[in-house]
Amino acid sequence: MTKYVIHGGKPLYGEIDISGAKNAAVAIIPAALLVDGVCRIENLPQISDVTLLLNILQELGADVRTVNRTTVDVDCSHIRNARVPEELARKIRASYYLIGALLGRFGSAEVPPPGGCDFGGRPIDQHIKGFVAMGASVDVRGGYIHAKTAKGRMTGTQIYLDIVSVGATMNIMLAAVLADGLTIIENAAKEPHIVDLANFLNSMGAEIMGAGTDVIKIRGVERLTGGAYSIIPDQIEAGTYMAAVAATGGEVLIKNVIPKHLECITAKLLEMGVDVEELDDAVLVRRTGKLTRTNVKTLPYPGFPTDMQPQIAAVLCLAEGTSVITEGVWDNRFRYVDEFRRMGAQIQVDGKIAVIEGVEKFTGARIQACDLRAGAAMVIAGLAAQGTTEIGHIHHIERGYEDIVRKLSGVGADIRVVVTPDEDKQAQVG
Ligand code: EPU
Repeated sequence: MTKYVIHGGKPLYGEIDISGAKNAAVAIIPAALLVDGVCRIENLPQISDVTLLLNILQELGADVRTVNRTTVDVDCSHIRNARVPEELARKIRASYYLIGALLGRFGSAEVPPPGGCDFGGRPIDQHIKGFVAMGASVDVRGGYIHAKTAKGRMTGTQIYLDIVSVGATMNIMLAAVLADGLTIIENAAKEPHIVDLANFLNSMGAEIMGAGTDVIKIRGVERLTGGAYSIIPDQIEAGTYMAAVAATGGEVLIKNVIPKHLECITAKLLEMGVDVEELDDAVLVRRTGKLTRTNVKTLPYPGFPTDMQPQIAAVLCLAEGTSVITEGVWDNRFRYVDEFRRMGAQIQVDGKIAVIEGVEKFTGARIQACDLRAGAAMVIAGLAAQGTTEIGHIHHIERGYEDIVRKLSGVGADIRVVVTPDEDKQAQVG
């Protein structure tokens, strides 16, 4: 078993560089399927979700060349295969973007149902509604989603999303860029990674207007040509380190960020008594005094991001008074609460609401990451805790955080990766 061992209670001081955005990268890599030529993708985060998607493109027949640590050249011109291999695709949620991209490129796609973090039901009915409106038939058989258009090309149309969905918005954009005619997505999601995907596709020759608002218009073009594109910094990675400084105290300059994307997180930290200074492409986060309580409700962008909910909960556990968190996006995103309780937190959950009574401190414990952001929140709790925290199931965390141990060690955290083969055996027996 590989785990993180954290000796907590040390304030953080120094600088952290933020990597490229995971949730932009996992859409932009499949988007390369639509490009007839070489596209250079820069500022890719080095995380397992990115590696998996690049491997899937290779399995489909793409030529993928590593240029440097964060840059790859992808050439999908010669791909003829629209069936995605099962084993790789099931490990990742974002494999659903392969449906939109393959439909856009070939008018057909065969993709296994997506994997990813478990927050209760994660339907993709809005994606499918979009594909069907654009002329595809979609059915599930033999463990695969089969999508196909009779005429070999998607047809532009008007699609109203019943729910503001990041995935459906981006998937329909992918299916629409090479479609015949104009596609209009109404009630679209507005997250920074939606704008980033649109910018990537437009830089390759697409005609997408309105990304970042709730009406997106996509005029289909005949082909996309190659080019180079640099992915935006990761809003949630930055927010996670901001929350870590809030929990431990100290002062950290978080570099290579777009401060505007962080405003929803900054606003809450300010309410809690944390100093956040916005610079051009960095934020300086400082916490010296006590943390004060607040309430948080997660919402689609520009609301407070659900992907920061567990991390802000870790900070609120240490704030004076009673805080209330309302999860407004997912049905079941409080699965980490039992692990926090083992560390001394006082939290009651009723459905989508968590009530937190602040405590003086967390105490170290042996806990297990249950999903990506919950795992990051456990790291934050461990950094702030008195004593030693051991976190298992860290593969969840490494799906989405590049070099988290190195980045935190660089600002003074005592965190190590420990491999214990014996425990593996015990786990198998037990
Ligand atoms: N929904 C439906 N039907 C659909 C699609 C979504 O009912 O067809 C519902 C979902 O059940 C959920 C809500 O709509 O209640 C929003 O889901 P959305 O489609 O926006 O989520 P997603 O695209 O599956 C992405 C991120 C998640 C992030 C959410 C919300 C990726 C790969 N995943 O998921 O990121 O929580 O948007 O912002 O981009 C993470 O990074 O840790 C993560 C889970």
